[in-house]
Amino acid sequence: MRDTTINDCRIIDLRKIHDVRGNLTPIEGGVDVPFDIKRIYYLYDVPGGESRGAHAHKELYQLIIAANGSFSITLDDGTEKRSYNLNRSYYGLLIVPGIWRDLGDFSSGAVLLCLASEHYDADDYIRDYNDFLNYKKR
Ligand code: TYD
Repeated sequence: MRDTTINDCRIIDLRKIHDVRGNLTPIEGGVDVPFDIKRIYYLYDVPGGESRGAHAHKELYQLIIAANGSFSITLDDGTEKRSYNLNRSYYGLLIVPGIWRDLGDFSSGAVLLCLASEHYDADDYIRDYNDFLNYKKR
């Protein structure tokens, strides 16, 4: 989707079921996130100083959660940028299609959990920043 902006992305305050035995956060597709969840992946063992992301998706919706530790995400719609530091297991960052993202500042032991609206599709990626800017202009 070409006409999305960073204002279409937002932090979703997930439910937190507090318990002295440990807290629990459930996420249901179409209920807690505005899409059906077709895929889950997680990123872990990220070496210090490493960065990830640096791409946009054409159709994919994602909810990104710091399941453990923290990291930063900078969103970019080709006009405006906004950075988030995710550091709580009950906050999810909703990223809509057509948004460039850069990830970095991973803390030691950070686990990035991603819930995605589609199965993996290499053709859904825009990996070149100039291609992204051209895609947004059209
Ligand atoms: P990529 O999305 O480029 O990672 P990041 O943007 O976080 O740096 O994915 C890295 C590799 O993993 C790439 O070769 C594609 C593969 N991959 C899958 O096979 N399935 C998936 O669901 C994802 C997210 C990646």
